[in-house]
This record gives sequence, structure tokens and C-alpha cells, in this order.
Amino acid sequence: MAHPAVLAPDPDPTTAELIAARPHLSMHAMDGLLMEGVPLNAVADLVGTPTWVLSAGSIRGRLLALRTAFADAGLPARVHYAVKANDHLAVLRIMAQGAAGADVVSGGELRRAQLGGVAPDHIVFSGVGKAEWELRLALEAGVGQINVESAEELEMLSGIAHGMGCIARVALRINPDVDAGTHAKITTGRADNKFGIAYGAATGLYAHAAGLPGIEPIGLALHIGSQILSMAPYRAAYSRTAELVQALRASGHAVRMVDCGGGLGIGYRDEPAASPAAFAGAIRATLGGMDLALAIEPGRWLVGSAGLLLTSVALVKSTGARRFVVLDAAMNDLLRPAMYEAWHGIVPVSAIDAVQPVAGADVVGPVCESGDTFARGRRLPPLARNARLAILDAGAYGSVMSSTYNARPLAAEVLVDGERWSVIRARQPIEALWAGETVPDWLG
Ligand code: LLP
Repeated sequence: MAHPAVLAPDPDPTTAELIAARPHLSMHAMDGLLMEGVPLNAVADLVGTPTWVLSAGSIRGRLLALRTAFADAGLPARVHYAVKANDHLAVLRIMAQGAAGADVVSGGELRRAQLGGVAPDHIVFSGVGKAEWELRLALEAGVGQINVESAEELEMLSGIAHGMGCIARVALRINPDVDAGTHAKITTGRADNKFGIAYGAATGLYAHAAGLPGIEPIGLALHIGSQILSMAPYRAAYSRTAELVQALRASGHAVRMVDCGGGLGIGYRDEPAASPAAFAGAIRATLGGMDLALAIEPGRWLVGSAGLLLTSVALVKSTGARRFVVLDAAMNDLLRPAMYEAWHGIVPVSAIDAVQPVAGADVVGPVCESGDTFARGRRLPPLARNARLAILDAGAYGSVMSSTYNARPLAAEVLVDGERWSVIRARQPIEALWAGETVPDWLG
């Protein structure tokens, strides 16, 4: 049954195009969609759905590609993986094995990075509102760098470090007032965003930091946003940073390093992904040749395309002109479409489904909100109950942003590596949903 009236206006990439653009995915005539050497049907048969599935090979390949781009540009830069994108211990282990450090934003992420095997001196602690206990934990662990975002935080950190008899190596996170040209909710480098130290206040605060007990200012940090596809905002932000480095050095301050942040975008639909070579080029053109140690903090670019959300059709219903494909996955699992109107590819797992004629469908979850919509007017084949679909590019900001809204347990997670695969997080049993709750006696 075709619903031409509800198709998205410009043609989406086809299933074949989406798979072809993702080297770790392939469609096998008998087994259906494979990730590396593993049929996703086998995973769903044994683990059920919804289930996050992640490709170890893809993550390793992306880390290597990023490193190679910087090496080719003659720019040694430390990679501090932004743990928030996917904080699973297995992901952190892969990063540590690939000699990546970690960018963490909470005491929990700090502990996760350590458990994953990241050496403390390769951990950077970022964040706009670190709690006292978190700063203490970071100093006790001996993290390599703390990115300070305000004068208030600097005073607090100085007091804590001095009291503990240690020195905090500090980078001041500046706000360069540059629009990253991405979704408003993930833009972080404009003057009206909460992040960083106002550009004009940075020189004064750096001088102040140099005189504080327990603080050693080592450089500057910035992060202008996420899912950035154009190099122009990076160049603008890094040029402003280079000017600040020169001004600070001219006033006699040692500025040894610049932490260039993350934000490299990936291609979700058919937009070209940010190129690591272009990113390295933008850094070299602005901050190269200044005798600076450089670091980057990519999250999404390393893990985003490596993961998918495997889901089954709960039922298909038609109301008026619209066909609704209701899945067993929902906005509580993958929040990005509801939160950022994000486009994610959705492809059938069955090879037979993948070659049927397509018609428009709205792909939704079972949660009681109209915002629980993964796609509108998406071209999909006829789908029966229990037909399996894969929602693509869910490796970053997927499982980490899940909630148990509507008392829906957290989905299982699986890691694929070549022909091997393992459950790396069991599906949450529903009893776990209320395990931490108590009903006070006085309620009777
Ligand atoms: N460094 C800092 C200080 C950050 O705040 C972030 C991300 C990163 C690095 C890594 O950025 P990436 O390379 O992953 O773009 N939940 C949103 C994305 C939020 C990003 C927050 N900060 C989404 O699903 O699009």
C-alpha cells in the first residue's frame, strides 16, 4: 500500500546506499544484515530486541584513521576520547589499547576511564560545574589535566589542591564566541552559551591562576560544539586561540599546550562527514608551528557510526493517510531524534525485506508521547510484526542517553569483533527498575 502523500520531500538514501557507506555492514542474501562477520538475526534470536550492537573493528579503524590523518599532517596530537559519547567499559578498553586517553566530565566517567585501563595522566577532566568531591577524586587519581571553566572553579580547585598538598595542572577553557553552525542544543562556543571563560577575561584569569597556590596553568582548552561538518568555525576558533597564546606569552606566561576539543561530525544521512585530514589541516594552519603540545577530544566521530540499535516491529497500524511502524525500541532508548530532530538511517535486517518496494511510513516507539518518533515519511518495505530493523549510527550518544521512562528496562548491549560477539550488558531485568526504591513505613 503506497502513501505517496506522506513521503519525505527529498529522496532519502536507499537501504543499499546506507549499507554501502558503512564498511562494517553488509547484506547477505541468506543471513540478512551482517555487522562485520556476525548476522544480526543471530544476535536478535539469542538476545532479543531492542539491543545495541557495536563494531569493535570499526572503532579501532576510526581511531587509526584519525591518528594517521594527524601523522600525515606532521602534527603530533594526543587523542583524548570523549567518554560521554559511549562510556561502556569495553569501548574504553578498545580506546586504551589504541593508546587513546580520555576526556571525562564527571567522577563516574573518571572511574570508568580508569576501569577501562586509561592511565590517569592521559585523562583530562572537563565540565562546567564540577563538584568538590569530583575535583578531589581527580586530584587523588592524578589526572593529567583539569580544564577549568570559570574564576569560581579556579578558586575552588586552588583551595582543594592546596589543602591536599598537590598541584593541579590546569588548562583554561575559553569561549571563543564562534558559532559552530550545528544544532542549537549542541553549540557550545558562543558567548551566550554557559561554557568556558569569556574570551576577553582569559588573559587576566591566566595571570591570576599563575599566582594561585595549588595551580599550575599549562595552557588553553576549547570545544565549540558537536556534529560540526564545516572547518570554517574550527579555523575561526583556533585563530582566536592562537592570538590568545601569543598575547599570554608576550606577557611572560608559559603556554605549553592547547586542547582543541572535539565535535567532528559524521554523515547520518548523505551529508559528507567531517574529514580528519581537514581537521588536522585546520589545526596546523592556525596553531601549528607555535611549539605547542596539542590534544583533541573526539567522541562521536570515533564511535557513532560503529553502533546500531537492533529493534523489532511491534505492530504496523494505519490511521488516515499515515502508516505507523511501531517498534519495540523507543525514545527512552535512542533519544536523539526526539531531542535534536536527528535523522538516523533505518534499514531492514532481512535480505528479503531489503529488496521489496518501499512506501512512506512513520517509524515510532511505544512511549506515550508523539515525540517518540524515529522517522516521518521514511521509505520502507511492507513490514510484518516481528520484522527486524536496524537504526544506524547509534554508537555515540545512544545507550548513554537512555532512560527507563515508561518503566522500560535498559536494552542489552552486544560487541562484535570479526566473527566473534558477546553480550557486554545484559538486558535490565524489570525488577531492577525499582530495586533502589523504598516506600516509607509511615505511608502505611
Ligand atoms: N569535549 C567536550 C568538552 C564536550 O563537551 C564534548 C561533547 C566532546 C568533547 C565530544 O564531542 P563530539 O566529538 O562527540 O562531538 N548528545 C548530543 C551531543 C552532545 C555533545 C556534548 N559534548 C548528540 O546526541 O548529538
